[in-house]
Amino acid sequence: MKKADIVDMLFHEKVTQKAPREKGMAFAPTNIALCKYWGKRDTELNLPVTSSLSVSLPDKGAMTTLTIHAEPNDKIILNGRELEPDSGFVKRTVQFLDLFRKNHAWRLLIDINMNIPVAAGLASSAAGFASLTSALNDLFDWQLPLQDLSILARLGSGSASRSFWNGFVEWHAGVQLDGMDSYAAPLPHEWQQLCVGILPISDAEKPISSREAMQRTVSTSMLYAMWPKKVAQDMMVIKKALQGKNFALLGGTAESNAMNMHATMLSSWPPVCYFMPETIAAMQRIWKLRDEGLEVYFTQDAGPNLKLLFLEKNKETIKKQFPLVDVINVF
Ligand code: PMV
Repeated sequence: MKKADIVDMLFHEKVTQKAPREKGMAFAPTNIALCKYWGKRDTELNLPVTSSLSVSLPDKGAMTTLTIHAEPNDKIILNGRELEPDSGFVKRTVQFLDLFRKNHAWRLLIDINMNIPVAAGLASSAAGFASLTSALNDLFDWQLPLQDLSILARLGSGSASRSFWNGFVEWHAGVQLDGMDSYAAPLPHEWQQLCVGILPISDAEKPISSREAMQRTVSTSMLYAMWPKKVAQDMMVIKKALQGKNFALLGGTAESNAMNMHATMLSSWPPVCYFMPETIAAMQRIWKLRDEGLEVYFTQDAGPNLKLLFLEKNKETIKKQFPLVDVINVF
């Protein structure tokens, strides 16, 4: 099945094509997975092997403004700078837009403002594709429910399916071949005390895209066979931890989940390694602080930066220990 078929399916009955508004605008938060998505069962539709669970960072993300313009091509301005038409980012975005325009000739001026480093494993593509999808919904007044927007954004980037809500969000892997049951939904738990700290290690572009790294892991790592089992277990434990507000259980499970994901990558061939020497040094400091009694855990995605997990009561200590950390209160 092709992406265009899914778009047809979602639009066929639900959307009456109207004249576009003058502008379409939307913000989407970035999200940090506590139980990761790593590996696809369908690479065309970005259908995951497993479900995943994330927490959104309420005011870190992407604000996208769309205007139809009279020029022959789409133009993207990212954080005030026009991007080269042949850059990977522009190509991916244009391919995504092509799914929606079919015979229509509209071209867009796309103004994206992100307050997170782009392509450094801080889920910039999640916030980017979610805000682009919501902004299209706004521009053309599709009035699609969030569940459908989640499915559409997933076609651009898997983790984007989780960026339509604040708080904790679960992306259901689904079993259908067309992926119509593979969308995200918010979880009811709130946790006022919970903080995420973004610990910058490097904002250099990642050595290999998550898309490519995922495929390499699935096709070459012997450890990958264990990954769905690990996720099934961690999903259960994390939900239990959220239910009972058990922070040590939440932090420990999220950290172990991330380490297992990176272990599958390291065992790929050629190896996929998102660790930099500074990443390891920071991990070792966290483990030492934890041994000394400070409740701090970390998670890491497809990039060298770490995201610290801790409670509000330890915020000042964390800031003292990690002066560069950017602290976000999740609720
Ligand atoms: O959605 P992608 O292709 O950017 O992949 C995201 C993968 C991780 O960030 C490493 C894990 C996750 O669940 O967000």
